[in-house]
Amino acid sequence: MKPIQVGLLGIGTVGRGTFEVLQRNQEEIRRRAGRSIQIAMVADLDTARAQRIVGATTQVVADARQVIANPEIDIVIELIGGYGIARQLVMEAIEAGKHVVTANKALLAVHGTEIFEAARRRGVMVAFEAAVAGGIPIIKALREGLTANRIQWIAGIINGTTNFILSEMRDKGLPFETVLKEAQALGYAEADPTFDIEGVDAAHKATIMSAIAFGIPVQFDKAHVEGITQLEAQDIRYAEQLGYRIKLLGIAKRVSTGVELRVHPCLVPAKRLIANVEGAMNAVMVQADAVGTTLYYGKGAGSEPTASAVIADLVDITRLHTADPLNRVPHLAFQPDELSDVAVLPMAQVVTSYYLRLRVADQAGVLAKVTGLLADSDISIDAVLQREAGEGENQTDLIILTHDCVESRMNAALASMQSLSTVLGPITRIRKEELN
Ligand code: HSE
Repeated sequence: MKPIQVGLLGIGTVGRGTFEVLQRNQEEIRRRAGRSIQIAMVADLDTARAQRIVGATTQVVADARQVIANPEIDIVIELIGGYGIARQLVMEAIEAGKHVVTANKALLAVHGTEIFEAARRRGVMVAFEAAVAGGIPIIKALREGLTANRIQWIAGIINGTTNFILSEMRDKGLPFETVLKEAQALGYAEADPTFDIEGVDAAHKATIMSAIAFGIPVQFDKAHVEGITQLEAQDIRYAEQLGYRIKLLGIAKRVSTGVELRVHPCLVPAKRLIANVEGAMNAVMVQADAVGTTLYYGKGAGSEPTASAVIADLVDITRLHTADPLNRVPHLAFQPDELSDVAVLPMAQVVTSYYLRLRVADQAGVLAKVTGLLADSDISIDAVLQREAGEGENQTDLIILTHDCVESRMNAALASMQSLSTVLGPITRIRKEELN
């Protein structure tokens, strides 16, 4: 049978990995897919570089629309990124009746509803395994492997750059800024690392996972997004003394009142496997009613790990493209007319526990006042740690771990504590998840 014909838009790091892995493993992949998969055409603005990568036998063009217009092309891989031209090209490819494979989490998290609707209308597949956690097959696991389950929550380390930074801060006691420079020098962080360190990249991925876990539309605009730029090395140290590690988690949780969708730094018990995921690695923990807890670990970025996910999608499409669209796995795991309109909750309604660090005057009654305010707000304390004041020092750090409470109540208690004259600086608040 004629190989399935693929057009590749953008041959950067992942595109190159995709081309090379497809070539290297072509016989194995053909045996699995039932048909060869061939990248027949590549579009990239740097045509000379692209041609060097793919060799003389593959057609290279500068204009991506030539790929989309080619009637021989069955599948278009979009590896351009961003929501600008990539969005237009994906929509045009769908309209032209092409199946689409994309690694573009930003595009799907923000414009997924429009894209999946267009794909449904045209009867084509949009596959996106590479958009979340790189080489980890988490989309496959959520959409297919766990399909028997009612998924309760997902908590993931889904940004390698920030996990590398947090690991280095803990290991070496270095401040955020120093480690960020190191991450950039090592090529982990982007030259403009804003999306990584501000939690946006993780929120794109958490948004996609929330949709396929709970059968809700992709709603990035409802996600609570906090990064790690405010995190101080001393909090990582104190957390460790209390038996916790601090990780940037993407959380999607189903609760009785709606869905929580949030990204923020989080204390996690050091004994949990996920707390021990170090460096640029990713991991996703899923809690579901039948299977219990499962954990998926691997490389969340990089040329060949991400190519592994892109090619898995190519194989899926090759196997399924002749099937009746109604018999394929739905894009968001649930049938399109079965999506739920359950609300994504505002952060004020989220229930979680907290780590608080207060710089306080070291004098009688301060602890009692602070804990009294928490008691007045019906917030129960789990543990208290007071750093011994140094010689001649008249102030100290007070660390408090709380039990679960609703965020709005914690916000009110924090405002009261902050107004105490014996609280000497801004209170640090980091959320805590036991993940049990
Ligand atoms: N910038 C991402 C990360 C990789 O650091 O994990 C691709 O999503």
